[in-house]
Amino acid sequence: MQIVHIIHGPNLNLLGTREPAVYGHETLADVEARLSKAAQSAGVQLLCRQSNHEGDLVDWIQQAGRAGEGVVLNAGAYTHTSVALRDAIAGSGARVIEVHVSNVHARESFRHTSLIAPVASGIVVGFGTLSYDLALQGLLALAGQQKS
Ligand code: DQA
Repeated sequence: MQIVHIIHGPNLNLLGTREPAVYGHETLADVEARLSKAAQSAGVQLLCRQSNHEGDLVDWIQQAGRAGEGVVLNAGAYTHTSVALRDAIAGSGARVIEVHVSNVHARESFRHTSLIAPVASGIVVGFGTLSYDLALQGLLALAGQQKS
């Protein structure tokens, strides 16, 4: 069965209570429960993980890339700073959809740059927690296209 990695970076464990005016009221558990249902009906297995530590994210991206598995990645603040995450995606060949809950382009200028965007297969920004669902849908569509 196809495996999709859902990887959340720093502070996303606080979803639901963190700046709700920006990130909404849904928790990570709420989001993952919804994604699991979508995955189940698509016949796909999800591996959902969150870490506040950059190296964990690097390890998980490499693991997905080695196995030829896709990734839905919200790298949080590391999106804007991490050469290591960018290199992990490029170096492992992982197919990554970059996700942001908020519209980063309507926020502070330091959020307008993504080091991940140039190596991502797609980007979903600003749909609230629905961004994750759209990213999963996009990733599965891309994977389907590649097969046919
Ligand atoms: C975020 C946007 C980032 O700028 C921020 O640092 C986050 C969350 C989002 O999902 O909107 O932690 O990735």
